[in-house]
Amino acid sequence: MPGDDAVLRPASPSALTLELAYDDAPLRAAPGDTVSAALLRAGRVATGRSLKFRRPRGPFCLQGDCGTCLLRVDGEPNLRACTTRVRAGMQLQSQNRVLPRGPDPTALVDTVFAAGMDHHHFMVRPRLVNTIMQEVARNLAGLGTLPDAPSEPPAPPRHEAPQVLVVGAGPAGLAVLRRLRRAGLAAVCVERLDRDGARARCGDDDAEVRYDTAVFGLYPREHGGGVVAARVHDGDARGIVTFAPRHLVLATGTRDVIVPLRNNDLPGVLAARGLASLLRRTGDTLAVPGVVVGEGERATALARQLRLELLAPTAVEAVLGGARVEAIATREGRRELGVVALAGTPAPASELARQCGARVRWADAGFVVARDETGRAAADTWTTWACGEVCGVAERDAADDGERVAEALLAAIGRAP
Ligand code: FES
Repeated sequence: MPGDDAVLRPASPSALTLELAYDDAPLRAAPGDTVSAALLRAGRVATGRSLKFRRPRGPFCLQGDCGTCLLRVDGEPNLRACTTRVRAGMQLQSQNRVLPRGPDPTALVDTVFAAGMDHHHFMVRPRLVNTIMQEVARNLAGLGTLPDAPSEPPAPPRHEAPQVLVVGAGPAGLAVLRRLRRAGLAAVCVERLDRDGARARCGDDDAEVRYDTAVFGLYPREHGGGVVAARVHDGDARGIVTFAPRHLVLATGTRDVIVPLRNNDLPGVLAARGLASLLRRTGDTLAVPGVVVGEGERATALARQLRLELLAPTAVEAVLGGARVEAIATREGRRELGVVALAGTPAPASELARQCGARVRWADAGFVVARDETGRAAADTWTTWACGEVCGVAERDAADDGERVAEALLAAIGRAP
């Protein structure tokens, strides 16, 4: 049930049939929810504290990219709330907080060092003080505590050898998948989250997409592997799966970035795209007033989707609040709200391409993949192709780009029409 602090209003309160606990307080969720959706609905926006300044932390990107939503799940530390699916009886706990449900005395660090801390010179001498300080700092900086019990020995990874593995089920990745399917070529597509509710919208049309499956490493042959390793994080299906494809298509898109504003790290500051995607998936609506901060075509489209006013970053002087967003300060004065949705220029998610040996070049907000004219980015253990936003292609052109790269791939393996 949404409380007074709820950020999201559930599409169907009667669908919240699962009972969980967060910091020992009851929490309800719908089957298929992510933990972060359940927490936002209950108004529990803070999941921990930052290592250095002890500032409150909560979900930002809602898509598995930023790592600000780490919490303890059933005794296992450091799981991402935004990519972990709920289960009945799940015990969730915030991390790195001294008193999870009350004021945290370690937040004093933030007050005392409001102007920043030079940790290279702070308490370096005398040696005894430095030794004590190091010990305290190490304890403060620990990410969670050890798991309650040793984990079960992991199941051996499942192994598959598809001819083509597509990473990312955004517009470009899905276009590749559909074009290959039309040519009669079976490909596997993995996607770390059901990013845009595609699974619900498309049903069987995207039956080849393995959602909740995040690629975390590429192990080329010279390191004794020749596999793409992915972690499946969907309930009972959790485990590792490895793929040995002949062709790897990277349609990994972009990551949301923080817009520079004072206090832009408060819980309740969310990535506009991640929030819009979450609302599409769940059918929930915003239960608090909010604004989108950004500029340009993309920010305008996101503000329209979220039905929020768009403010330029220069119009916002600061985000205000203590443990969470309470207001923003603009030139016109203070404005009460519960959500600030940031819509900055996203950064290309080019890490996997770089692991494959692809060249990258700087463009706008990050490194885009520099591919050849056909879309080929590297040829090593696999032939690697890249398409869509990770190559600097605009979102609206990403599907066309995916189709074009799929044509080139088909031609390369002698399956051109
Ligand atoms: S990784 Fe979960 S909110 Fe960013």
